[in-house]
Amino acid sequence: MDKVRVAMIGCGGISRAHVNGHMSEPRSELAYCVDINEDLAKEKAEAAGCKWATDMEAVLGEVDAVDICTPVDVHAEQTIIAAEAGKHVLCEKIMARTLQEAETMIEATDKAGVMFMVAFVLRYRPEFQMLHDMCVNGDLGLIHQGFCSTTMFMDPAHVRPWRTTVEQFPMGALMSHGCHYVDQLQWDMGTITDALAIGNRFTLGDVIPGGDDTECMVMRHENGAVSAYVESWATPHRMQGIRLEIFGKKASARLVYNNDGTRQIWKSDESGMNVVWEYDPAKEDHMDVFGGAKDMQGQISHFIECILDGKQPMTHGREGIRPMQAIAAATEGGEQGVLMNVADYVAQQKK
Ligand SMILES: NC(=O)c1ccc[n+]([C@@H]2O[C@H](COP(=O)([O-])OP(=O)(O)OC[C@H]3O[C@@H](n4cnc5c(N)ncnc54)[C@H](O)[C@@H]3O)[C@@H](O)[C@H]2O)c1
Repeated sequence: MDKVRVAMIGCGGISRAHVNGHMSEPRSELAYCVDINEDLAKEKAEAAGCKWATDMEAVLGEVDAVDICTPVDVHAEQTIIAAEAGKHVLCEKIMARTLQEAETMIEATDKAGVMFMVAFVLRYRPEFQMLHDMCVNGDLGLIHQGFCSTTMFMDPAHVRPWRTTVEQFPMGALMSHGCHYVDQLQWDMGTITDALAIGNRFTLGDVIPGGDDTECMVMRHENGAVSAYVESWATPHRMQGIRLEIFGKKASARLVYNNDGTRQIWKSDESGMNVVWEYDPAKEDHMDVFGGAKDMQGQISHFIECILDGKQPMTHGREGIRPMQAIAAATEGGEQGVLMNVADYVAQQKK
């Protein structure tokens, strides 16, 4: 096999970036766009120059892999059906509604011997990879602290219907969106051993009943380093989109996504504070290399490459469930008013 035939499952908001990623990847052949909404499936297929369908199962015989971009409540069912048909799976985050559901996805894909990758897209962007390299190659020295803040505003009038019932979406911003950043802090600073999260829901509480729209999570990592993540879906006037900072004994680093679309990595060390990486969407040569339209490219290319080369993806199922476990433990810790040990919490859930 020198090309992977892919069916895009779910043709809503995030699928656009996935479709672009497949169309720009020479080893991917987007064969189908599938959505229960026929109009959306047709529209996406037309743009991609491929076939369309409304039933995932009907197209599995004609593809090697599925790229699941549907609401979280159908991720497990679709992953298991695809795995049982021998298809590789890329699944949008968050993997599933519960840890138990996520485990069934890992078990089914393991049993079928297919590749299962969770779409933690930030891991595949050059700037997050660079920050990670600085953390693990000794550039920062011993890491003792981390901080991350992300800010969004989700208009209550335009929330996707699937986020508005606890049955379909039993979570809030931290699990659904914050999973990216908890994953980053864990990837950069080591396994999260203990955590606690607190939050509130002043803005979206009536619209998204499954969890809080604004949260704060504190973490202890395996080497004793501490980190904090503050985030919101309910802040109309943000200071920046993303701010991720890692502090070490030799140097500190900050990755920032600014409101004007620029992105930088700053490094502070004995020579002062310097920009060591920059992306500016206004610069033509930057658009070709980093960010923007290329934001999904690294992830899609990694998925295709792992299938063709028989490699385990960086964010395989067992890795993809880890931020979920830390967040679930932290949320329970917040409810009980205790710093929750993640391993103990996960063991308790399996009983
Ligand atoms: N990585 C990111 O930054 C990011 C950003 C946004 C959303 N997401 C994730 O992507 C997923 C989809 O989110 P979205 O914002 O695109 O939602 P969306 O509502 O815009 O799109 C979901 C689509 O799935 C379709 N669908 C529902 N059930 C289906 C089924 N059984 N078979 C086929 N199609 C079905 C819907 O008709 C809809 O078109 C979620 O898991 C979300 O968490 C990730």
